[in-house]
Amino acid sequence: MTQTLPRTHEPSVGKPVDRVDGTAKTTGAARFAAEYPYPGLAHAALVHATVSRGRITAIDTTEAAAIPGVITVLTHHNAPALKPPRRFNPLDLSTMASGTSVSYLNTDEVHWDGQPVAVVVAETLTAAREAAALVEVSYTTFASTVDFKAEEPNAEPQKGNLLMSGSAKKGDAEAALAKAPVRIEARFTTPPHHHNAIEPHATTAVWDGDRLTVHDGTQSIDWLRSHLALRFDVPVEGVRVLAPFVGGGFGGKANIWPGTILTVMAARATGRPVRLLLTREDVYRTVGGRTPSTQRVALGARTDGTLTALVHTSVTRTGRVGGNPEQVTSQSKHLYDAENILVRQNVVELDLISNTAMRAPGDSIGTFALEASIDELAYELGMDPIELRMRNEPERNPIDGRRFANRKLREAYRLGAERFGWADRTPEPGSMRDGRWLVGMGVATAFHPAWQFLANVTVRLSVDGSVLVRCGFQEMGMGGATAQAQIAADALGVPVESVRVEYGDSSLPLSPAAGGSMQTASVASSVLTACEKLRRKLARLGRPGDDPAAALARAGVPSLEVSVGSDTRIGRLTGQVRFLSKLIRDQRRWMKAASGAQFCEVRVDPDTGETRVSRWTAAFDVGRVINAKTAVSQLRGGIVMGIGMALSEETLVDPRTGRIMNPGLGEYHVPVHADVPPIDVAYLDEPDPTMPLGLIGVGEVGITGAAAAIANAIHHATGRRIRELPITLDKLL
Ligand code: MOS
Repeated sequence: MTQTLPRTHEPSVGKPVDRVDGTAKTTGAARFAAEYPYPGLAHAALVHATVSRGRITAIDTTEAAAIPGVITVLTHHNAPALKPPRRFNPLDLSTMASGTSVSYLNTDEVHWDGQPVAVVVAETLTAAREAAALVEVSYTTFASTVDFKAEEPNAEPQKGNLLMSGSAKKGDAEAALAKAPVRIEARFTTPPHHHNAIEPHATTAVWDGDRLTVHDGTQSIDWLRSHLALRFDVPVEGVRVLAPFVGGGFGGKANIWPGTILTVMAARATGRPVRLLLTREDVYRTVGGRTPSTQRVALGARTDGTLTALVHTSVTRTGRVGGNPEQVTSQSKHLYDAENILVRQNVVELDLISNTAMRAPGDSIGTFALEASIDELAYELGMDPIELRMRNEPERNPIDGRRFANRKLREAYRLGAERFGWADRTPEPGSMRDGRWLVGMGVATAFHPAWQFLANVTVRLSVDGSVLVRCGFQEMGMGGATAQAQIAADALGVPVESVRVEYGDSSLPLSPAAGGSMQTASVASSVLTACEKLRRKLARLGRPGDDPAAALARAGVPSLEVSVGSDTRIGRLTGQVRFLSKLIRDQRRWMKAASGAQFCEVRVDPDTGETRVSRWTAAFDVGRVINAKTAVSQLRGGIVMGIGMALSEETLVDPRTGRIMNPGLGEYHVPVHADVPPIDVAYLDEPDPTMPLGLIGVGEVGITGAAAAIANAIHHATGRRIRELPITLDKLL
């Protein structure tokens, strides 16, 4: 059987192909969720609770309603009824969709400071926001628990789930620690963080009878669609979610938060198309951020550096109305071949908004504590920190002996050290200077597990040689659409320009949410299968030597389409169960992950404590890179977020009231251009044999290890170990 049609073009995978959506974005042709003009469009604005726990006793909307242009003020007195969200069911991941368990505007109860208690709908945005400020709400308040530090001692063991355990052990780490000739032990803290995507959350909702169209900046089109159908009690087939362009998500747009629900509700109540564009403050008050953490890391070693004990425990928080207890200690099960390992996670529930996933949930803050501790142990031993890591580099997954699907951390360190010039570093703290600046160089390991999920895809080839790939995945700026065009082009042997990818629409074949760095691998797997099916059909139609379009022409067929997985709606039991069991089998067999080595140089002013990051080199093992431009950009973006995490980012929650005190970019400091040096990103580009095309997702690994590399560099510059993020200048004085 002639299955192999000739390849007519150079492969595009691995090349720095320009983004397929680049022109639309740079010319402004790309429409984001708050940019859809509908005739009769009305605008919404939120009113937030100002107590953390209580009941509304009265809402006075008289003044608000008197503002010209106000159409209605929705409160729990007049809002349409919502169905409650469903409880979590591991067989239907869309049950993870709800940001909180609250029935917004269907209750007089307040569960967090910031919970929406009213929505103003008006003819203009200005009128809506002005009126929202005039809504008067009175409360009785109940005792609430909002102080993470104070509640930490009451933390309880975190429950695990199908794919992620709350604790794990090998041997007796505490006993080994007590006997270890060399040991270090320290406590670390990390603050809450917020995502600050460039596009604040926004929704435009339009009802037509029981049919609903929603434009929403979402990471999870399918979850959103199922969730809206459930909450508004309408058939899921009548709900359409469109999200062709999303201005960044980082986990903050994976769940469904009150703004989206309330826009749909406002459109239902007024019979008008309604748009809600959250202010930055609205985002902080109504979208969960990253949990704070306290962590304990204790390491025991022989004098030659062999680790005998690794203990990593953490406390995080969730909201009482929901949240995601992050797998903070996860990387400590995979990174070092310690003879004894103990990881344990505890969690407290507070009267705050649920926390949610934020770029490399768990691993980003967990690697801070672990990798700063490894550096500390290296100093204790008088060893180079890279040598210490390589001495403890495992052959198999340390906690359970699983084989690594790929593990090129040694090679990544070699490559990174060479490019960075690690050999020029003198290890003594404070030994390197540049004029008045203390110069420090630090290194840390990056690590993030690799996942893959089920995607439905159709691929169509037309006789003019064009290819259409259809899949309702999410493009938030990562380059996912470009990557899939490249993958399909190579699989069919056509130029990448002839492939068009349709995405970002729930009427397309369903894709998993964009999260966990798994979208590209998930969709790629189905695109590859579809293209393979297509090639086999073409081989039967054409003759040896035909290119794909010629094969169609010869058979007189205008186009040929194949589908993969489209008979199993994601969320439907059979497909889900089949896939999940395959996934679990695969995960039991292999430990799959992206890893890397982060190198940075900092300059610290000895008088002011000001820290500047002056150089960065990172070398990653992320399997095969599909697009040299967009993958590097993803990795670099993660490092930029890591710089923010290390030096400036911190959501300040008033420990008395539970109110977020810095809900905006003026007081929550993300890195600006002047804070970010040129970032040199290298990768090994060797395929992971267990992943589609050998690719591993690159969305999250970039942030991991970054804060530790900076903390370690600061120690090298100053001799000071700062274990509390962010490392602001006051902590260095
Ligand atoms: Mo993510 S933090 O899995 O969007």
